[in-house]
Amino acid sequence: MIPLPKGRPTFCAVNLACLRWNFRQVRKKVGRKINILSVVKANAYGHGAGQVARTLADAGSDGFGVATLEEGVELREVGIRTPILILAGVYPDQLEETLRYRLTPVLYDLGTLERLESELRRRRASLGFHLKIDTGMGRIGLLASEIDGWISKLGRLKALKFDGLSSHFSHAESEEEEYTHGQLTTFTAVVERLRQAGLCPPLIHMALSAAVITLPSSYFRMVRPGLILYGIPPSPVMADSITLKPVLSWKTRILQLKRVPKGSSISYGRTFVTQRESLIATLPVGYADGYHRLLSNRGAALVRGRRAPVVGRVCMDLTMLDVTDIRGVKQGDEVVLLGKQGRESISADEMALWAETISYEVLTSISARVPRIHYSSKAST
Ligand SMILES: Cc1ncc(COP(=O)(O)O)c(C=O)c1O
Repeated sequence: MIPLPKGRPTFCAVNLACLRWNFRQVRKKVGRKINILSVVKANAYGHGAGQVARTLADAGSDGFGVATLEEGVELREVGIRTPILILAGVYPDQLEETLRYRLTPVLYDLGTLERLESELRRRRASLGFHLKIDTGMGRIGLLASEIDGWISKLGRLKALKFDGLSSHFSHAESEEEEYTHGQLTTFTAVVERLRQAGLCPPLIHMALSAAVITLPSSYFRMVRPGLILYGIPPSPVMADSITLKPVLSWKTRILQLKRVPKGSSISYGRTFVTQRESLIATLPVGYADGYHRLLSNRGAALVRGRRAPVVGRVCMDLTMLDVTDIRGVKQGDEVVLLGKQGRESISADEMALWAETISYEVLTSISARVPRIHYSSKAST
């Protein structure tokens, strides 16, 4: 049984048994010799970073990837001892805390490398880092094509310890593999050059979820999955290659039920007017909870195992469903916004289609005022 929150019944149920299951599927894919760095940035993709990281650490995760120093500190404070990589790097005024909390930054520009090196020497301290190479993502990273310019500088670092080397795929979820293979070839060439220069660090990594599923040649020494740990395939065509269980369900209950005559307008802007006498359910959830406003007159939720369309505009705190066609609906009935109810389900991918976005944004947009309730059950949520 999921323990229910007090008061407003809008919450996310996070099934840690499903999280463990997904981690085991990744372990099966990559084997025992490859490290798994579980990506738990953005509050573990909205699932609650502390609980998720503790569960994955128990399951054998070799380390964690976060986006910011603060996210790394949060993990240390809940007792995570394994390496924590700050994927988007640290700022000069964060060196003190980076050292204190034993966090490992990803570094990607020569200026920062030089500044940190001299500051660390001044303090007689040392700090491990991973270097990021831009092989075609066009985001952060030293350009692979400029290797001649930066390789000699790496050899002069003393206080900064070169512990890892990484790159990031930009299109690995696509079926067009050419660009992805090109990135891998470029990265492999960088690894080789560094090896020849006697500079190759122990941890080399490139694979995000999509590459964990489709590209074993990109595993190197470590993989960095995020999305698949939360039970969502990076693309529907990959769903058959790995058996995943969605970890998060988003639920609420009917706040008010109202029978209204034909011709009644629902919500702001009068974008929905009933074409018949209708039964309208108002839910205590809105765009301030991360229930996207694009779901207005487009989305659906599950009531008594059936789909009920969202009618009218999603408001800041309230959303209306048309439940006219569903028998026996009562005030207080459970409503599933994301997840399963009876034989029906709504996936993060489906909600993403309605909201013109991707599953990652659906999950990370569920706001802090929605409590996350963690539990463990073999039956999926
Ligand atoms: C640098 C880096 N590595 C790994 C990941 C994990 O990606 P995915 O969730 O697709 O596995 C991300 C996610 O955005 C990332 O930014």
